[in-house]
Amino acid sequence: MLSADRGQPGKALSLGKIHAPTQRVGTGKLRNNQKGSEMLPASTEKDISRRQIGREHDSSYRIGTHYDNKGLLYGNSCERRLELTSSFTLTSEYRVTADIFAAQNNTLTEIYQTFGQCTAVVDEEVLAHYRARIESYFAEHGIKLRMLECPAKEEDKNLSSVLKIVDYLASPDINQPRKEPVLIIGGGVLHDVAGMACSLLHRRTPYVMLATSLIAAIDAGPSPRTGVNAHNFKNSLGAFHPPIITLVDRNLFGTLDPAYVRHGVAEIVKMGIVDDSELFSILERHGAALISARFSDLRDPKLADVADDVLYRTVASYLKHEGTNLFEVYEDRPHAYGHTWSNKFELSARLLHGHAVSIEMCLSAQIAVLMSWITEDQCVRIIELCRSLGLAVYHPIIEDIDRMVKTQETVRRRRGGEGLCAPLPKRQIGECDYAQVISSDLLKAATNKHRKICRQLPDHGAGTEMYLKG
Ligand SMILES: NC(=O)c1ccc[n+]([C@@H]2O[C@H](COP(=O)([O-])OP(=O)(O)OC[C@H]3O[C@@H](n4cnc5c(N)ncnc54)[C@H](O)[C@@H]3O)[C@@H](O)[C@H]2O)c1
Ligand SMILES: [Zn+2]
Repeated sequence: MLSADRGQPGKALSLGKIHAPTQRVGTGKLRNNQKGSEMLPASTEKDISRRQIGREHDSSYRIGTHYDNKGLLYGNSCERRLELTSSFTLTSEYRVTADIFAAQNNTLTEIYQTFGQCTAVVDEEVLAHYRARIESYFAEHGIKLRMLECPAKEEDKNLSSVLKIVDYLASPDINQPRKEPVLIIGGGVLHDVAGMACSLLHRRTPYVMLATSLIAAIDAGPSPRTGVNAHNFKNSLGAFHPPIITLVDRNLFGTLDPAYVRHGVAEIVKMGIVDDSELFSILERHGAALISARFSDLRDPKLADVADDVLYRTVASYLKHEGTNLFEVYEDRPHAYGHTWSNKFELSARLLHGHAVSIEMCLSAQIAVLMSWITEDQCVRIIELCRSLGLAVYHPIIEDIDRMVKTQETVRRRRGGEGLCAPLPKRQIGECDYAQVISSDLLKAATNKHRKICRQLPDHGAGTEMYLKG
């Protein structure tokens, strides 16, 4: 179990090395008449081979320690053909700490002292609570702090916000060096927007993500998916650019609006349903208490321990699937549960992300029942857990089957164009499989069934504070 050490650098969860996909230049087979070089036989014809002409790089020229790349180049000068196999390596960490801005906490100092400065992009609401502590922390450690204050609501998740951050980082006063990680301090929105800005600056600038919200701590923060909403679709544009370090101090959630804690718990429920049945059971027992304490104000040491356990289990489960597939080369992604149709209806209905995910998870559970993947009882357990946490389980927007089918088609193309690859629970809670085709008849039948059940509920399946504010 991962515990928070007060005033100490946090425990680290290393993501290890992640290899990017292979890139190839030239598709023809290489005919080799030359001698003396490394010869690799081609797969099909005996007289065809390849000659390695790539090179090693001198490590003294390497920029930073978190990224590396290697390449193998094979050439055939007679046929003027080249074939490149290249790999990109990232080393990334997830660390939990406590009282991150306390003078004796070395977590940020260890990262920024060598640079003598830190460029931070900070959520304006976070700054309203923590400006004095952030400024005095860096001042006490003699690290020059340059800070950009950013509005970071769902409405700000757009390209113009990304460009404002890029303009700041590239301005003559800041001139952010390529090897120095930007510090992002904020929730999921700021992660996605500022992370995308870092992906553009110098074509790739590293960043450290200090998660100030629950979603940023367990999902968006360590995620490689940066991006913005566009074309009335969630996260329609973006780049795969993970942080080099994600830092979590759950005490910071104490100033978060409780509505944002609640919607964040939907992403934890998600990992419980598709990957970790014990996590699901822990939420059945303690989820409501954790939400009321915002995972932060935990005087009961047992509940504090549960909070740490829940955060650790969720991230470990998430990174098991996401950290080994950072560039979404594979579509067997359990954490996409609840993220198929909601990509469209979340924005249209102005729902908070977690409530949209929760509504889709419940509808998907009904689909799984109709497909005989789970039992009726398991579906009821999923809906009851979401209800007990105040998450929405129904919204009339899902009754627009045409819209849902169109969204499904867009998502299918976005995921690679073969099947839909929609994760659904299968066999038992904690396991899932991927539905490749969901017909409009099946979608309609599941929606009707779910609507009838939710009509019996006093609030018709609505969640607590389920809509975007403002
Ligand atoms: N990249 C990914 O893989 C990924 C995963 C999950 C969610 N997301 C995205 O994350 C977003 C939701 O994240 P969120 O719940 O963090 O929302 P958010 O970033 O909008 O933060 C919620 C609100 O709380 C404020 N805030 C943040 N931390 C605070 C703190 N400690 N004290 C006081 N106020 C604070 C913010 O200014 C904002 O108004 C959605 O846009 C969703 O699409 C991305
Ligand atoms: Zn999500």
